[in-house]
Amino acid sequence: MGLVHKDLLGLEELSKEEIGLILDTAEAMKEILGRDIKKVPTLRGRLVVNLFYEPSTRTRTSFELAAKYMGADVVNIAVATSSVVKGESLVDTAATLAAMGLDVLVVRHRAAGAPHLLARHLKASVINAGDGCHEHPSQALLDLYTIRARKGRLEGLKVAIIGDILHSRVARSDLWGLTKMGAEVRLCGPPTLLPQELARTGAKLVWQVEEALAGAEVVIALRLQLERQEQGLLPSLREYSRLWGLTTERLALAAPDVLLMHPGPVNRGVELDATVADGPWSAINEQVTNGVAVRMALLYLLLGEAGK
Ligand code: CP
Repeated sequence: MGLVHKDLLGLEELSKEEIGLILDTAEAMKEILGRDIKKVPTLRGRLVVNLFYEPSTRTRTSFELAAKYMGADVVNIAVATSSVVKGESLVDTAATLAAMGLDVLVVRHRAAGAPHLLARHLKASVINAGDGCHEHPSQALLDLYTIRARKGRLEGLKVAIIGDILHSRVARSDLWGLTKMGAEVRLCGPPTLLPQELARTGAKLVWQVEEALAGAEVVIALRLQLERQEQGLLPSLREYSRLWGLTTERLALAAPDVLLMHPGPVNRGVELDATVADGPWSAINEQVTNGVAVRMALLYLLLGEAGK
């Protein structure tokens, strides 16, 4: 079985079986990452381009490493020094890259739907590296991989996602992925940052952080997206931290072997105390390592195995 899609645009459109296939493939890729020489020729001659219209450390770097470890050629476009600043459109930029032999375009854009537009225009595969507040599928896949690796399963796990749900593309992708894989999801945040329509996914929506944490086996804290806040959604950062910030005392309400995750970058002292971010329950750095394996698996499944 392979992926039925040309592109990876979101977890909403993936089946449980496809998600399982990606996680299983990432397992094999993790073995390559453990070798002294982390290089296989599988994608030799293929061209992967990273086109990021928003800042990134983890996603852009790990797609670059993943492509290099798989033997592909990689180009990173710095939008600020590209012809985008002369007014070149998104579609024209992608068409220019396609004319140079593009095989996979990894794109991050502030507008929800931007990767979907490109996927319709390009023969190459498009991977959504984050589109506005919509989806960030590769982050959710590395979250699922990390949870499955540490807990041995996803089915039936109690997972609390806490923070700025409204602006979080990670929360939306995690929600699709976790519910498809049978986890029990609680979403928690200030009422102004917790869209009620997400209840239709089967997730439980709670405002009180203590209720979300009670007995949770996995806690995913979200970055408070300061750059996307509109006036009036939050009283103040201090108030947010006081009511929804994770402290060691609050985390003690979760299961004794709770796994703490965060997509990064962390606002220390806002959504997480430093003692929580660096505590023994934290899988934050492990998520980053697993992100490379998951992205290798995605490139392999979209290009290598499909034999395009
Ligand atoms: N998690 C995540 O998307 O991080 P970056 O913004 O650093 O890529």
